[in-house]
Amino acid sequence: MTTFVGILAALVVIAFAFYFIARGVTGGGEEANGPDPRMEAKILENIAPVENIRVGGSAAQDAAPRAARSGSDVYAAACIACHAAGAAGAPKTGDQAAWAPRAAQGMDTLMSHTLNGLNAMPPKGTCADCSEEELRNAVQHLLKEAGVEAKGGQAAAPAAAPAAPEAAAAQPAAASGKGKEIYQASCFACHGTGAAGAPKLGDQAAWAPRIDKGMDTLMQHTLNGFNAMPPKGTCMACSDDDLKAAVEYMIAESK
Ligand code: HEC
Ligand code: HEC
Repeated sequence: MTTFVGILAALVVIAFAFYFIARGVTGGGEEANGPDPRMEAKILENIAPVENIRVGGSAAQDAAPRAARSGSDVYAAACIACHAAGAAGAPKTGDQAAWAPRAAQGMDTLMSHTLNGLNAMPPKGTCADCSEEELRNAVQHLLKEAGVEAKGGQAAAPAAAPAAPEAAAAQPAAASGKGKEIYQASCFACHGTGAAGAPKLGDQAAWAPRIDKGMDTLMQHTLNGFNAMPPKGTCMACSDDDLKAAVEYMIAESK
């Protein structure tokens, strides 16, 4: 019995000894399983921008005598994350076909989408401390890289406004001025360059088989979209007559 208790006591002592040796080797039990200091630093770095958001404080900051950052600076700091590679479905930098229909919306719409966000596009493109001017610079940088331009005001509205007076659709001649205007505002983006496989203005070979389909089919494809051709050619404010004038203009130029 004494021997047995002695062995038991020795085993307990050995067990404790192993426990403390193990602790020593791994650098101290619980602490060893705690956050890795490098990981911790990275996490702090990742959440850092959140700390920089000042609720209602941005106006004061904008007023500070700081020169507005250039479009390429803001782009490199904030927008590149998604727009360089097209992450999350972002239109890729320099991709004319992707940017053309967006530019066609006009600068006001682009700015409102940039400031407020649009689907996966986050408000201010994640640049919380960017002023509106800086974001505008960045948008202009993106447009320039894609080789497209956006009108300063509401792009589509002025083109659509003068639609009423003349019975445009009935007189193709009178309509051609307006057709050209709409073409330049909305259709040129693709049809001027052949972007996204659009038949190019003036390309007889490309247009002949399309013209053969007849005006009804062409109008239906223009209104409802057709493969990569977007509905209404992105001119959401255009009336049917406006679009008809644009199609007639394109046909006349491409015969
Ligand atoms: C987290 C990813 C992400 C970041 C960062 C980001 N964008 Fe975007 N952006 C998107 C996505 C996604 C879209 C497409 C949204 C859609 O059409 O559904 C988009 C679309 C846009 C558009 C087109 C909007 C329209 O009306 O078609 C503009 C302009 C734009 N981004 C500007 C910027 C600017 C400027 C920055 C930097 C300040 C930026 N983005 C940063 C993801 C991002
Ligand atoms: C985003 C680019 C884009 C814009 C903007 C655009 N188009 Fe197109 N369009 C296309 C493409 C691509 C096709 C060829 C589609 C196909 O045949 O698969 C096309 C084809 C057409 C056709 C021929 C359809 C057919 O049945 O063959 C007409 C007509 C047309 N577009 C009119 C317009 C008008 C009018 C506008 C402006 C209001 C416009 N497009 C703006 C891309 C565009």
